Amino acid sequence: MLLHPASVPGTRQEFSWFLSSQRLLLLCLVTLVSVVHAELPAPDSTEVELGRRIYMEGVSASGAPLQGNRANSGQIEGAAAACETCHRRSGMGSLEGNVVVTPITGNFLFATEENRPIALVDQRAPKNISRAHAPYTEASLAKAIREGINVSGRKLSPLMPQYALTDVEIKAVAAYLKRLSAKLSPGVGEDTLHFATIVTPGVDPKAREVMVNMMRAAFSQRNATQENYSGRMRMPIDLIPRTLRNWQLSVWELQGAPETWGAQLAEKYRQEPVFAVISGLSNGSWTPVHNFCQQEKLPCLLPNVTSPPAETAFYSLYYSRGVALEADVLARHLRNQEKKAPQRVLQIYRDDELGKGAAEALTKSLHDSGIQVENRVLQGQDPSGLKQALKGVSSKDAVMLWLNPTDLAALKKAAPKQVPAIAYVSGFLAEESYSVVPKKWNAHTRVVYPYELGEKRQKNAQSLKKWLQTWNLPLVNEALQTEVFFNLLFLTDLTSQMLDNLYRDYMIERAEDMLSLGSNVSAYPHLSMARGQRFASKGAYIARLAKDGKLVADSEWIVP
Ligand code: HEC
Repeated sequence: MLLHPASVPGTRQEFSWFLSSQRLLLLCLVTLVSVVHAELPAPDSTEVELGRRIYMEGVSASGAPLQGNRANSGQIEGAAAACETCHRRSGMGSLEGNVVVTPITGNFLFATEENRPIALVDQRAPKNISRAHAPYTEASLAKAIREGINVSGRKLSPLMPQYALTDVEIKAVAAYLKRLSAKLSPGVGEDTLHFATIVTPGVDPKAREVMVNMMRAAFSQRNATQENYSGRMRMPIDLIPRTLRNWQLSVWELQGAPETWGAQLAEKYRQEPVFAVISGLSNGSWTPVHNFCQQEKLPCLLPNVTSPPAETAFYSLYYSRGVALEADVLARHLRNQEKKAPQRVLQIYRDDELGKGAAEALTKSLHDSGIQVENRVLQGQDPSGLKQALKGVSSKDAVMLWLNPTDLAALKKAAPKQVPAIAYVSGFLAEESYSVVPKKWNAHTRVVYPYELGEKRQKNAQSLKKWLQTWNLPLVNEALQTEVFFNLLFLTDLTSQMLDNLYRDYMIERAEDMLSLGSNVSAYPHLSMARGQRFASKGAYIARLAKDGKLVADSEWIVP
């Protein structure tokens, strides 16, 4: 596994700068970068478009579905035969089982000895880099596509289908490949790699400070050590030469109403284009950010948000579906109780995007369950609002509290004499503040808890705690900080694996693959992201409050 705490600096180990011949190689690569930045010849746009349809959609020139023949497994057609299925949107290839699908962008296919880029083709074997070959021509490309023979005369893996493409189609594919991932993405400077993190209004200033300080510390540490590796362990992949770039972090603070965020983001992006957005904070809407990232084709990796948009998009990756996931987990849990399930669930929430989203999700997932859902909107700021919302609760009811720590704090004063059969608290929203639950309610309270519990969780938090100590940073909000820490490790490994192929589409593809390798430092029991998925953690526990105030699992990990 590559994702390892040692890849973010922290352990005090000294390593000397590696061989000077590799420094020379680096110089060559720097020269290459300027070549890559050069303008491409004006394309014949209909030709490129035809190539794009073959590559991305599996549609041939006639408009009929593309047909591919595979020696062992017969014919595939249409989208399944599209080159993108294996070579990916970026053209940088992938790993299908144990078979390496090679990068086939123009930079790789047509490269000569002097300007050949290098890609890591198997992230499980960090020395497995793309193989050198003679430059392809249109004729040898045709032979590879039609007959499965590569430029050196070797028979290609039977996984690579053979296609009876016409000359026009071959030309179109070649034209498309020449433009595919041809230029480094915006945000990649000659010696700087620009990142941003985004903070929406209304976020707790303490949470903001904690996140930004951690990111700044990790960025400066990384920049100080990237050349000589002092203070961090060198991984085998570090031996592959690459251009050294300092990471730079901008903090984009949004203001005012969500409708205005799009314009604010566009202005910030215009002033400083970034390669990717990493982390981020919101306790309400995130949709405008999500839309902006999609529009700019900007990777937005793993923000700390409780209510991401339900509709997935290519460029935004999330830890989970947030409160909507909790709603589905709770519904599954209640349905599983069959006859013992409560007849009625009173759900209490604030009348904002987050609260409404959570309440709608629960209503939807309990549809047809025979369990009645009653909505109670929480009004005002003092305990009388919560008292009002809990009015008429009976010993047969379940209560779902979609409430943040501030609102939950009113519970002791607002709780009616009648204890409900069971009260559920949202783990995402409560942020570990369970001490506010009245004593009488304790045995009747459950938390829909989206993180790992017990020893395993503590073990996973170890490296975070050590790292924070090294940097003299406080531990304020463990769930948030574990996410930020994971993101920093993730970004380090991700960019390190990408070598000099700093293309945004490739970053997303690599992120998908890497998340599926799992990790030992996140607060979640398991992260995975099959191709096209955008939510990495897919379940939650129902947990109860033990006598010592700690949470313990009261159910299996429930994946709805
Ligand atoms: C089902 C998966 C799959 C699809 C679909 C696919 N390829 Fe491939 N392709 C491969 C694999 C695997 C290899 C590497 C084979 C090897 O090295 O033996 C490969 C290799 C190649 C090569 C040779 C690259 C080199 O480094 O020599 C070219 C060119 C190529 N593919 C073009 C295409 C084009 C164009 C399409 C779409 C029309 C396409 N492929 C669709 C799996 C696929």
